[in-house]
Amino acid sequence: MKITRRSFFGLAGAGTLAALVPQSVFAQDHHETPHDISFVQVSDTHIPDTSGIERTRKVVDAVNSLSLPYDMIIHTGDVSNGHGKQEDMVTAKKLLTFKKKTLFVPGNHDVTFDHSEQHEATFENVFGPCYNSITPVIGLRFSFFNSQAISDRATEATRNRAWKKLGEILSPPTPTILFCHATGLPDFYKNENHAGWKEETMTKWTRIMKAAGVFAVLAGHFHRDEMHVRDGIPFHIAGPVVGWWGRQSSFRHWVLKDGQLTYRTIYV
Ligand SMILES: [Fe+2]
Ligand SMILES: [Fe+2]
Repeated sequence: MKITRRSFFGLAGAGTLAALVPQSVFAQDHHETPHDISFVQVSDTHIPDTSGIERTRKVVDAVNSLSLPYDMIIHTGDVSNGHGKQEDMVTAKKLLTFKKKTLFVPGNHDVTFDHSEQHEATFENVFGPCYNSITPVIGLRFSFFNSQAISDRATEATRNRAWKKLGEILSPPTPTILFCHATGLPDFYKNENHAGWKEETMTKWTRIMKAAGVFAVLAGHFHRDEMHVRDGIPFHIAGPVVGWWGRQSSFRHWVLKDGQLTYRTIYV
């Protein structure tokens, strides 16, 4: 069967082919293969934590002098460490002096899990929108989502609003990389699995993303490098900048080329 973009979205809604995008689907139709792009992902700077400040300076220098080409930087949250404190966000913004366009999504340490709606405006004033989509190149959408607002700890009103906003930023269906902070996946540390968000939350989220053409979720929060596939959608989780638990700072250099999404890890 020849898979066209149109037939993909019909099947993706039925939960069949999302993991194949864009590698096999768009490669069959040159007009609809997303154009190539490269970008940098930075996560979990936690400013003004002392190691966050010290390491952010080094990471900013490393990104600004990176010899690999890239178009923009995307920070996947926990930019600051003040749970809604504007002063910490402003300090973070002043330190994150990247030379190229930088986009941010909020993390739980920026806007909290349970009251994120109360801190979104502060975050947006400093870093830009908590729910947004851009078209970085032809045939590709980058969507930015405050995922804390759909967590099981958020109020019903906040969750409903966030689902609505997710639908808005993912409309119409288009090949999309979704950037967020927390993913709701089970968190394995101290040799134990710690439960993630409820099954119904995860299923609803992945169903919406699949129907909208999301082929990868890029996130942070775990402070570990991990990759999981949930309902056919790959969740790529980047390591942190901050030095908690003795981890070395790193950032990722992502490339989408000929419909294949790959990355390198750069340690600082
Ligand atoms: Fe974090
Ligand atoms: Fe976090």
